[in-house]
Amino acid sequence: MLQLHDVSTYYGQIRALEWVNLEVRTGEIVTVIGANGAGKTTLLNTICGILSPKHGEIVFAGKPISNRQAEALVQLGICHVPERRQVFSTMSVTDNLLLGAYHRRDKQVQPDMRQVYELFPILEKRRNQMAGTLSGGEQQMLAIARGMMSRPKLLMLDEPSVGLAPLMVREILHIVADLRARGTTILLIEQNARAALQVADRGYVLETGRVVLSGTAKELLADEGVQKAYLGKSNRLQLARCRAGLTTYACVEDKSINSCVMCPNGNK
Ligand SMILES: Nc1ncnc2c1ncn2[C@@H]1O[C@H](COP(=O)(O)OP(=O)(O)OP(=O)(O)O)[C@@H](O)[C@H]1O
Ligand SMILES: [Mg+2]
Repeated sequence: MLQLHDVSTYYGQIRALEWVNLEVRTGEIVTVIGANGAGKTTLLNTICGILSPKHGEIVFAGKPISNRQAEALVQLGICHVPERRQVFSTMSVTDNLLLGAYHRRDKQVQPDMRQVYELFPILEKRRNQMAGTLSGGEQQMLAIARGMMSRPKLLMLDEPSVGLAPLMVREILHIVADLRARGTTILLIEQNARAALQVADRGYVLETGRVVLSGTAKELLADEGVQKAYLGKSNRLQLARCRAGLTTYACVEDKSINSCVMCPNGNK
């Protein structure tokens, strides 16, 4: 459905994406994991036409889309739910949902609204409430639900669970799996890498703008580097001595000193 071939994106002189190759096949959930500043948001903004790539090609449903306007891409079926759940806070839940369908000329908007309310019963309960009065989790659901009102073929979610309680994170990811089961293809950016890899089919690891690893979600969950960097195992440190005899920190898992913070040359 979506392919990126050697895509590089710059902010002025700063290169934020470097030769990125990535594919999302129809019916998949693909996740991109990476540290803060790795380029995840830049990646989604490049795909949805907010940013233009300096090099490379983006192909959607067999057509090159690299320099199309964001508006045209919505018409083609690409929907982007940006980070920090941007809902229209002084508008009602229903009006927010209708805005998601603003470009549609078909007669299925009302039936789709009913379907979205079936999927998000809490939103139906709150349908006349101003979006700004919803809880963080409810606003995130509204942002996703509004995206669904555009009938996307590809739904791109930028950190949908950021700032939410663990129970709400589960709920959101459950919804993501549900949307896929109903036929939407999903590209998911998620700070909670473990939870994302648990719902995804495949994943990519982005480091300083480059794809450094890709594979099935199962492969990435089992990968030692991914575990240490993104699944929280590297946090368990204990005091140890490095080869130069200085006191430093070592990873509890393997008792080895990965990098000595005391030695000027990072003696291992
Ligand atoms: N508008 C901008 N102007 C200049 N540099 C930018 C701009 N937006 C992002 N960057 C830089 O591009 C790089 C990638 O940023 P990006 O926001 O894509 O990362 P991210 O992986 O989404 O991070 P986070 O996990 O914090 O959301 C960073 O080094 C960032 O400082
Ligand atoms: Mg981001």
